Amino acid sequence: MAKKLEFPDNFLWGASTSSYQVEGNLENTNWSDKFPAGRACDHYHRYQEDFDIADLLNLNAFRLSVEWSRIEPRPGEFKSKEIEHYRKVFEDLKEKNMKVMLTLNHFTLPKWISEKGGWSNSKIISHFSRFSKRMVGEYKDLIDFWITINEPLIFSSLGYLEKEWPPLKKDWISFLKSIRNQVKAHKEVYNILNQDYNQKVGIAKNNQCFEPFNENSIFDRFSSRVADFLWNRYFLNKINGDLDFIGLNYYFHNKIKFPWKIRNENKITTDLNWEVYPEGIYHVLKELKQYEKPVYVTENGLADSEDELRKEFIKSHLYYIHKAIKEGVNVQGYFHWSLIDNFEWDKGFKPRFGLVKVNYDTLERSIRPSAFYYSDVAKNNQLEL
Ligand code: BGC
Repeated sequence: MAKKLEFPDNFLWGASTSSYQVEGNLENTNWSDKFPAGRACDHYHRYQEDFDIADLLNLNAFRLSVEWSRIEPRPGEFKSKEIEHYRKVFEDLKEKNMKVMLTLNHFTLPKWISEKGGWSNSKIISHFSRFSKRMVGEYKDLIDFWITINEPLIFSSLGYLEKEWPPLKKDWISFLKSIRNQVKAHKEVYNILNQDYNQKVGIAKNNQCFEPFNENSIFDRFSSRVADFLWNRYFLNKINGDLDFIGLNYYFHNKIKFPWKIRNENKITTDLNWEVYPEGIYHVLKELKQYEKPVYVTENGLADSEDELRKEFIKSHLYYIHKAIKEGVNVQGYFHWSLIDNFEWDKGFKPRFGLVKVNYDTLERSIRPSAFYYSDVAKNNQLEL
């Protein structure tokens, strides 16, 4: 008989998106000049259709973000039309009985902030706090979970060290300032949202599974531990006192060869050549246990245009999440990245992360087979092995 793994009661089964990647027509951000997303998936106009699909797939939760540049295109000038738009978006999710997790900042910044240094300029802290305060004032009745910042270290390292993302710099000082300002901004926004408005507030943290390439090498073990501390724990340690839950975005496993070389076996890889290593999510979750907070997997997914790996990917990652839960990690939800194919930052539209395929010529949506598999898991709140 097939073995069944039950998930905890009230477990959240969701999917994630972010505004710049799906909405379309955003010309006023730090990405818009070099990496324009054009009309993207036109989710701005088609959100109801997309949420209908999420509903049909039995999802009981949804993670999305507000686009700061749309709402506050110039300092202090808040657009009521756009505030009203997002209210309708959240109301639609609520009518479908979904829990709403809202990210306040998912990589994009209004131009007026990025032109002044973005996250590397400490002025952003008060701007972000003012924006967040306005958001919580407007939407507190509709949002169940707030995420302050998505993947602070990814944004800072790709933007300020690797020259891959805006502002396309290599500048250690700006990198360090950007981390420091994100820590401060998170804390300040936490205080407003949690203390003043009694909301649940977390972060979406990209944590990775680090292992020494050679277990017997003291050097590889050293490098792996340092990487693990700096990447996985440093930021969380800084904000741990101001955090109601941890959002985990899990994508990567790195076998580290001294000093910092990554040597993975890459037995299975995605369309982006990222290694598929489901066991890694178990190790990363076990590491988060020390924080004694509820954990939501706020992102996990793969680029797989033919939908060849996605079903097994979901199944195997859920298997390891369940194992972590059995061993005492308080995981309360899983949000697959992503509901629909979307704009993958510097890589454009080629990578296909969606449970739902988007035809970018016609904007037609079609549900991939793996989505029906995920839908069954969500409906039954259990995984059949
Ligand atoms: C980001 C998403 C992105 C996904 C896949 C995460 O780092 O939060 O915006 O699309 O990974 O690369």
